[in-house]
Amino acid sequence: MSKSILITGGAGFIGSHVVQLFVEKYPSYKIVNLDALTYAGNLENLKAVENASNYYFEKVDIQDALELEKVFEKHAITDVIHLAAESHVDRSISDPLAFVKTNVFGTVNLLNAAKKAWEGELDQHLFYHVSTDEVYGSLHDGGFFLETTPYDPQSPYSASKAASDHFVRAYANTYKMKTVVSNCSNNYGPNHFPEKLIPLCINNIKNMKPLPVYGKGENVRDWLFVKDHARAIDTVFHQGKAGETYNIGGFNEWKNIDIVRLLCKKMDEKLGREEGTSEKLITFVKDRAGHDLRYAIDSSKIKNELGWEPSLQFDEGIDITIDWYLVNEEWLDHVTSGAYQDYYQQHYH
Ligand code: NAD
Ligand code: TYD
Repeated sequence: MSKSILITGGAGFIGSHVVQLFVEKYPSYKIVNLDALTYAGNLENLKAVENASNYYFEKVDIQDALELEKVFEKHAITDVIHLAAESHVDRSISDPLAFVKTNVFGTVNLLNAAKKAWEGELDQHLFYHVSTDEVYGSLHDGGFFLETTPYDPQSPYSASKAASDHFVRAYANTYKMKTVVSNCSNNYGPNHFPEKLIPLCINNIKNMKPLPVYGKGENVRDWLFVKDHARAIDTVFHQGKAGETYNIGGFNEWKNIDIVRLLCKKMDEKLGREEGTSEKLITFVKDRAGHDLRYAIDSSKIKNELGWEPSLQFDEGIDITIDWYLVNEEWLDHVTSGAYQDYYQQHYH
């Protein structure tokens, strides 16, 4: 039987790469992108596939249970890859309830819609939940997050993602739903909304605006190129074992300040500016409340069991990313206007 896959959050950063990969790689699958088009959803991310005959778009909020049921019925959905979420930690600090509504309530709605549509044949359909390494908390003394690391979320964002992960596993245990969860480290690459560290700095360096570094810039993140995450999702979707969790990461840890300096150096070169010009834009600002010190993922399980590993070195991925933002000025202009600017003003001034 061919598949009809519901990908939620497909207009967002990671979702758009997953949708594009699936539409192009699997012409026999029907790909239904379901997205509410919040500030983070941008259909311009999907220009490459919007006219493909196996691609469909549904503007639906996952908080709307009735609309979800209709989509399952209309497209005879066979499997779900769930990425729709509120995803920015700073926004979760100023508005935690928005995260409960989409990430927790919305995920449970989606589980219910899938359960209802697949009643009697739950073992024949897959509910794949895409999550984050932030559910494991903050590392202080070395070490890595394993799939067995106890959950210890520290921000409203990670608490809401942890809750949604628990619900997915609870549906697997209670209703015998076939589920899989993956927890990935920080992604970077094209289509990234410029409220997150890397695209924000690229945009600000381009426009000679201050680069806000929280605290002393000593916090550490593990970075993975977004297309490698999309490849991992493809791998887990097709080969992952039901009920399992897979950690996905780049074995690529960086202090924030070092990333910002690297971006400054590379962009000075690319823009023909005198060396050191962009570094002068670095501005240390008040630290994020409850700022997690370090995330580091051990992704040996997915490598050993499913054969996935990152394809790009960071240096290469960052070059591709900067070049993409410099070429796609129109994309950047569109997302940096309107609501985004209001949020930016509120948050940084
Ligand atoms: P994003 O914010 O760029 O995109 C989220 C998408 O979900 C947007 O298109 C938005 O319109 C949609 N959406 C939000 N609320 C919705 C709702 N109520 N109903 C329907 N659609 C809604 O996020 P992203 O960075 O692409 O992250 C995608 C997923 O991957 C999230 O679940 C996130 O937790 C997870 N994740 C992200 C990262 C990362 O570094 N960005 C790392 C690991 C895991
Ligand atoms: P971010 O891209 O928001 O991802 P996350 O918080 O999910 O890891 O932030 C990455 C790191 O960069 C994090 O330690 C916070 C820091 N940061 C800044 O220093 N300045 C900024 O303006 C932003 C958005 C983030």
